[in-house]
Amino acid sequence: IGSNNTASAEQLTTNDASSSSSSSAGSKVGDIVTVKGWIKNMRHQKQFSFAELTDGSCVQGLQVIGTPQHFAETTNGCCVSVTGKLTQSPGKNQSLEIQLFDEQQSSGDNTTSGVKVLGKCDDSEYPLQPKQHSFEFLRDIAHLRSRSNTIGAMIRVRNESTSLIHTYFQDRQFQHVHTPLITASDCEGGGEQFAISTPVNHPNNNKENNKATTTPAVNHFFGEPAYLTVSGQLEAEIFASSHSRVYTFGPSFRAEKSNTTRHLSEFWMVEPEMSFINMQDNLDIAEDFLKYTIQHLMTNCKDDMEFFNKLEKTLTNRFVRLPYTEAIDILTKQTSTKFANPIKWGEDLSREHEKYLTSHFGDIPVFVINWPKDIKPFYMRENDDGQTVANMDLLVPEVGELIGGSIREERYDHLVKRLNKLDMDQDVYGWYMDLRKYGSAPHGGFGLGFERFLQYVTGLQNIRDVIPIPRHQNYCKF
Ligand code: 4AD
Repeated sequence: IGSNNTASAEQLTTNDASSSSSSSAGSKVGDIVTVKGWIKNMRHQKQFSFAELTDGSCVQGLQVIGTPQHFAETTNGCCVSVTGKLTQSPGKNQSLEIQLFDEQQSSGDNTTSGVKVLGKCDDSEYPLQPKQHSFEFLRDIAHLRSRSNTIGAMIRVRNESTSLIHTYFQDRQFQHVHTPLITASDCEGGGEQFAISTPVNHPNNNKENNKATTTPAVNHFFGEPAYLTVSGQLEAEIFASSHSRVYTFGPSFRAEKSNTTRHLSEFWMVEPEMSFINMQDNLDIAEDFLKYTIQHLMTNCKDDMEFFNKLEKTLTNRFVRLPYTEAIDILTKQTSTKFANPIKWGEDLSREHEKYLTSHFGDIPVFVINWPKDIKPFYMRENDDGQTVANMDLLVPEVGELIGGSIREERYDHLVKRLNKLDMDQDVYGWYMDLRKYGSAPHGGFGLGFERFLQYVTGLQNIRDVIPIPRHQNYCKF
């Protein structure tokens, strides 16, 4: 149906252009076309009936007009193939529509106009009715919710964002590397990893009741401890040590019991890792990357983005760069807000502190830099003060922490000291130490939480609504 159904273009493009059964790609006003999709809404009048047809390619469906007889078997939600005449629409919100016609009026090429139902849908029990549904309700029908307007638009924005992220890095000569999802190391050191289990025997088929059964699983990966990754960073560092600029973009898993609107057990992270950069470079690249992606998204997804957030401030202002120590000063000296958890130097910011800081700076994103080393992971480079590390967290309004990154500790001796201090297993990280032993390079990078990014650009309040199928505490239905 194409994104230009709302524009003045005379041509109909379909997402289905590659499908040999679709005869509508590239058609013009006056042509007889066949379009396939789902009925989103039906309206009946005495003489005419109106159907809104969607194939998921844009917010606005395509209007199909015919007699009630044409639509005798169609209901909301059913899957159809429609053949009719493509005409200019007098309607305000669309430029094109399809008019169904009787055989006698046919264009002479014996085309049969009408609606063929490919998949029925019992309207009386179909959960998605043509009305506003709450997000809670839609989450309960996660297998059907991509047909709703908002989740439908989110899927398109997510797709475009993915493409822009790859373009940004590819245009700048980064190599995309696939880092493993099963790992022996704990990047963030929070002990929030899901452990891998292996069945003692292979699944066998219980012939008596014809059900697949597995013997109890043991908590290891073929005899060795292993986990689902919390971040691809450590492995990305391997490739930054050979290919200079790399990025990984994949799922991360966290077993934290955070039942909030900002946490998922399975989320996606974009992680560039770059040799030969310093702290300023890391901040500059993160800011440029975010602005590029948002700017292009606003252009490329105009129809869908109009549905969503306004981000002009983010694009037109330089992000604030605020040392952690100054952030604590601001938070402790202010008198306007009483925090539920008052903060002092050495502690992590909680949501209320993040909110205060972004609003203090007029809702412009804030990089909080140089955090106390004791509350940060082992790999961050120690600053000369011996107290803080060269890292950054980017805070944005509504969402809070969107990016976390740092310069990595590239000095062998410092890293050994740090691992010892944290009582970390040197054997597990031997390979990581080798990267410092053999041609160590100054390097750093960051991780952008993809769903938090989508929350930020769409303005959707709950992170569970910006991922196609969410996984979080107490939710893994299918
Ligand atoms: O700050 P984090 O934990 O940083 C890392 O994992 C680094 N290894 C990244 C790097 O330097 N390559 O996570 C990075 C971002 C956070 O800022 C947040 O946006 C997102 O990942 N994030 C989550 N998103 C959804 N659900 C969760 N449970 C998340 N935990 C982190």
